[in-house]
Amino acid sequence: MEFLPAVFAQAEELARIEARQPFAAGWGEDGFAGELKQPCAVIWAARDGQKTVGFICARYAADEAEILNAAVDPAFTRRGVATALMAQLLAALAARGVKRITLEVHAQNFPAQAWYRRAGFAVLGRRKQFYGSADALLMGKML
Ligand SMILES: CC(C)(COP(=O)(O)OP(=O)(O)OC[C@H]1O[C@@H](n2cnc3c(N)ncnc32)[C@H](O)[C@@H]1OP(=O)(O)O)[C@@H](O)C(=O)NCCC(=O)NCCS
Repeated sequence: MEFLPAVFAQAEELARIEARQPFAAGWGEDGFAGELKQPCAVIWAARDGQKTVGFICARYAADEAEILNAAVDPAFTRRGVATALMAQLLAALAARGVKRITLEVHAQNFPAQAWYRRAGFAVLGRRKQFYGSADALLMGKML
C-alpha cells in the first residue's frame, strides 16, 4: 500500500470510492476535480498497486484546517488505511504551519467517530440538524 498526495487524474477514482460510502461528502467527480485545483486543499490518497482505495481531504488557512471528506473503499476497510491516511494528512498540515484541525461528523457515524478519537480528536460540540434532521458532532485536535 502506498500513501501519496492525490493528483488530478484520480478525480474519477476518488468519486467512485466516495459513491460506495454513504457517509462520505458526495462531491462527485467534478467536485474532486475542483478541489484538486485548490491551493488551500491537502488531499492524500491510498493506492494498492494501480488501484486507489481511500482518500482524505482537508483545507487550511493560516494555522487552522478542516477535514472535509474521507472514505475508504469498503473492500479495504479495517486494515489501517484510514489511520495511515490521517497520519500523512496531519504531518502535511503540520508542515504547513497548521496548529488546530476541526471536522464535522454525522452523529450516527460511529465508525468514523471511533477513527477520529483514535487519531486524537475530541468532541468540541454538537451542531443541531447539520445534516437535514441529523445532528453533527464538531470534533477537533491541536497539532
Ligand atoms: C471511517 C472510515 C474512513 C475508516 O476507514 P478504515 O480504513 O476502515 O479505518 P482503519 O482500519 O484505519 O480503522 C481505524 C479505527 O477506526 C475505528 N473503526 C473503523 N471502522 C470501524 C467500524 N466499522 N466500527 C467501529 N469502529 C471502526 C476503529 O477504532 C479502528 O481501529 P481498530 O481497527 O484498531 O479497531 C471508513 O469506514 C469509511 O470510509 N467510512 C465511510 C465514510 C466516512 O464515514 N467518512 C468520514 C466522514 S466524512
